[in-house]
Amino acid sequence: MQVLDFDFVIVGSGIAGLSAAKGLAKAGRVAILTKGAIRGGGSSTHWAQGGVAAAIQEGDTPDLHFNDTIEAGAGLCDEKMVRILVEEGPDRVRELIELGADFDKVDGQLHYTQEGAHSKRRILHAGDATGREIEKTLGRYLLTETLVQFFPHTSILDLIIENGHCVGIQAKHKTDDVMFRAKVVILATGGACQMYARNTNPPSSTGDGVALAYWAGCQVKDLEFVQFHPTTLALGDKKPISLFLISEAVRGEGGILRNSAGKRFMPEYHALAELAPRDVVSRAIFKEMMDAGTSQVYLDLSNITVDIPKRFPTIFERCMEAKIDIRKQFIPVAPAAHYCIGGVVVDEWGRTDVDGLYAVGEVTATGIHGANRLASNSLLEGMVFGARVAEAVMGSPALKMGSVRGHSDDRVRLPGSRIKSGMTAGESEGITAGEVRELCAVPTDSDLMIVRHSVQNAMWEYVGIERNAAGLRRALGILGLHADVLQMPHDTELILEVKSLLQLAILTTEMALARCESVGAHFRSDFAHISKKRDVLI
Ligand code: FAD
Ligand code: SIN
Repeated sequence: MQVLDFDFVIVGSGIAGLSAAKGLAKAGRVAILTKGAIRGGGSSTHWAQGGVAAAIQEGDTPDLHFNDTIEAGAGLCDEKMVRILVEEGPDRVRELIELGADFDKVDGQLHYTQEGAHSKRRILHAGDATGREIEKTLGRYLLTETLVQFFPHTSILDLIIENGHCVGIQAKHKTDDVMFRAKVVILATGGACQMYARNTNPPSSTGDGVALAYWAGCQVKDLEFVQFHPTTLALGDKKPISLFLISEAVRGEGGILRNSAGKRFMPEYHALAELAPRDVVSRAIFKEMMDAGTSQVYLDLSNITVDIPKRFPTIFERCMEAKIDIRKQFIPVAPAAHYCIGGVVVDEWGRTDVDGLYAVGEVTATGIHGANRLASNSLLEGMVFGARVAEAVMGSPALKMGSVRGHSDDRVRLPGSRIKSGMTAGESEGITAGEVRELCAVPTDSDLMIVRHSVQNAMWEYVGIERNAAGLRRALGILGLHADVLQMPHDTELILEVKSLLQLAILTTEMALARCESVGAHFRSDFAHISKKRDVLI
């Protein structure tokens, strides 16, 4: 097995990982691992549409942004963390602009769009492909940094913990095993909404980082708060699927929701109508669909004054491919799992419970989002806390202990040859991975895909927009049928993904069962009566 030495290993090349790398780029040798190609769409960041929220415009203030975040979070936000987000956010966004991020402008001035539950137009965007622009900007910068090296098609399989300290990771590059030793490991692996049959996430969002941290002894929390996006393109797909998002910014620019009878319904649910907090809109759509027995409602863009193909080019083209001309026709939409509010517990510097192990971005539970994330606060979180993690790491004792390993021209090549021997990740004393797999009797990839689909269907059916105790227990029963998978050594990307999805599904369901109230994105139909932490009508 090839062994590589770095100062910092960052797992994930979304906004959180790239922002941390930007802060560390001159401090030592940085390895950035990512499951797919660097710009191949393997991160939620790449798919982000609406934009990034920051109080930059005249007339807006961090205080107003703070209030909106707290209000959307339904009373459960960590106020200290929200303060950091809204106060440091504007500078991080300005730095990104200085680095070349090309956000939309009108008459030479930045254009701010509107999204749900924001009291101001404060969302900077690059058309409807904001994440791609940010990823491109950060990637372009990092590629010029000689101490930074990207490792595409390289999956973390395990954390290496020695004497309670994280000293590196086991990884797989295509079919080859590679060990990365490092002074500090930063998990930036994103969320886990692939645990739902209907979701908006890229296939890589399987919660690997949360599961690995949990197995290593880190606390996880808030997993019951899964945010469902109200509007994904609903084309009647039956199988588990990543659904194309129709950005909230479309409603921000005037899009109206109509039920199957053509009636506008959101004003009956919330004073902010289509721009109510996301959990309220998703539940309202769900109720309209249930009442009418349909699997979609409609988004009507006829009131929109902006030039639709210019302002929303990606959405326009994708809908055209589906033979829907959104300038003239309603878009069929339905909610889907979108964002994991919960994750690995970290402090304001991204420190986990394990020494030498940091986490940042959607993999974490910072408390910023409370029970429901305010739209476009996630990209901002990645930038703000990515920079903070870098700052903390540079001051960490581990870094002061030794000199930087290697030199700037020490670029490594990953092995062209297959490994011949060596312990694989998850292998424990006296028993080989092969023997464990035989004992577990879950041998084939197709078996694992069956488990993956079973988890996704159970979660969508019983741990979705509305939950209740009976359904949650049923979900636990189904998930429990696959418990043997949790015993498997995670020595391939697929095994780790399925184990992670199963582990997170179980934890999410247990936490949902334990929280006997309805708040924000967690709606218990058996505790609906106490769901009035804020002014909602459902
Ligand atoms: P990600 O961007 O998901 O990156 C995770 C990285 O980890 C990827 O590179 C992945 O390949 C890698 N990875 C995962 N597992 C492994 C492993 N085992 N080994 C190696 N690498 C691994 N938020 C906003 O604020 N504004 C928006 O407009 C917006 N729009 C969105 C639209 C869509 C369709 C989606 C899905 C999300 C959107 N969000 C938006 C949410 C936001 O994009 C994400 O929360 C945010 O990008 C997460 O960033 P991240 O860096 O934490 O994770
Ligand atoms: C969107 O564009 O609707 C997604 C915004 C977000 O998830 O914050």
